[in-house]
Amino acid sequence: MTIDVILGLQWGDEGKGKIVDYLAGNYDIVARFQGGPNAGHTLKFDGQKFVLHIIPSGIFREGITNLIGNGVVIDPVILKKELAGLREANVDYKSRLLVSKKAHLILPTHRLLDAASEAAKGKEKIGSTLKGIGPTYMDKTGRNGLRVGDIYTDSFRKKYEQLRNKHTQLLSIYPTIDFDLESLEKRWFESIETLRELPAVDGEYYINEALNSGKKVLAEGAQGSLLDIDFGTYPFVTSSNTITAGVCTGLGVAPQRIGEVIGITKAYCTRVGSGAFPTELHDEVGAELARVGQEFGATTGRPRRCGWIDLPALQYTIMINGVTQLVITKIDVMNDLETVKAATAYHVNGETTSALPFDFNCEEIQPVYTDYEGWKTSINDVTDFGDFPMEVKNYIRALESQLNVPITMISNGPERTKLVLRNAEATV
Ligand code: GDP
Ligand code: IMO
Ligand code: MG
Repeated sequence: MTIDVILGLQWGDEGKGKIVDYLAGNYDIVARFQGGPNAGHTLKFDGQKFVLHIIPSGIFREGITNLIGNGVVIDPVILKKELAGLREANVDYKSRLLVSKKAHLILPTHRLLDAASEAAKGKEKIGSTLKGIGPTYMDKTGRNGLRVGDIYTDSFRKKYEQLRNKHTQLLSIYPTIDFDLESLEKRWFESIETLRELPAVDGEYYINEALNSGKKVLAEGAQGSLLDIDFGTYPFVTSSNTITAGVCTGLGVAPQRIGEVIGITKAYCTRVGSGAFPTELHDEVGAELARVGQEFGATTGRPRRCGWIDLPALQYTIMINGVTQLVITKIDVMNDLETVKAATAYHVNGETTSALPFDFNCEEIQPVYTDYEGWKTSINDVTDFGDFPMEVKNYIRALESQLNVPITMISNGPERTKLVLRNAEATV
């Protein structure tokens, strides 16, 4: 069997959690391959709302195994809280959740380093979620990190203390921040005991054996391709490979195992944190998208910046990821707009191009827009593509023809059931 992939094509928050939750019923295993508690994946069903940070979005489906892959970074304190939320909701996670021994741990001092590094950057800050993501991946690539498998060894405390001591020395080069390390550590070690209760597996063997025995596996991405450490809008990115290639390193599967790559984009665009956003709207249309779309970070609560859909950026992320199907979310948020715009090219230094410039953040990028007529009616109850107003169909078809990938699903509301399947035979 092959492994299908779901990932975001913009700057995150495209609605991955909702779509993974919807599709999870078609799979045996859902596996997160990168990122950590910087992610906030929202699921809504049966009148309830859940936000997942580290746990894969298949957790609410009975009979499905969820794997936290080796590419993920885990804060045991946040994981413990998430598990408590699941217990409250009567979700039997113990029979559904596995964690890879090779996943790295976020230490309390990683979070402090994240905060100190951001404080030192001042106006130039990345706008990180302050969850310790960057420092943890730095220790991974610097070969200093602690992994889940280490918690079962006798030398765990010693290794922890060595790394913690290195971090406290490092902290002294940054502006002073207040913290009570003793109480942070106490809570962290208590949470390690909760992590110990989850089955720790050799995730790479687990996934490959599952695929060999005919199981269907869905890989769930976090963040979005424009936040990828290599191909995103560097340096305003996260510290992992958020793209399809990250599935291979983040789960231990070979490239030829990759099956469908389902790319998700909002019908418009949002970004939270710093960095360029050529199609950002600073007017009342942007404010309306933020209000109707309730565009506040699921992890930090920060307001998300809003703007028009950016087709050159999507063409780029579709290319990098090998996207085979597209999902458009939040189309209902545009219900009241007179005109809907899509950026189809950029003017950069007097030239028109559809290529993303090397320095996405400094170049003067002026989007070139195409206008589409708005539909000015609620489409939240539409269940068949044929019942969408002509203006919606025109917009979807225009996106499809410019992106050159079939749009197989259109999401028209936050709830699990609000999904219009198109080309149903093409969806997994
Ligand atoms: P993720 O990080 O990609 O999983 O996305 P988030 O959960 O951070 O943000 C997406 C937000 O949009 C959440 O509040 C979802 O409940 C909501 N959402 C998802 N799909 C739709 C949709 O089609 N319409 C509307 N109005 N909201 C949606
Ligand atoms: P999901 O999975 C949106 C952004 C942060 C910041 C940059 C680096 O919910 O789509 P980090 O904490 O990773 O060092 O922050 O990346 N960012 C996200 N933005 N959605 C996310 O995840 C994000 N995870 C990180 O705002 O700009
Ligand atoms: Mg999110």
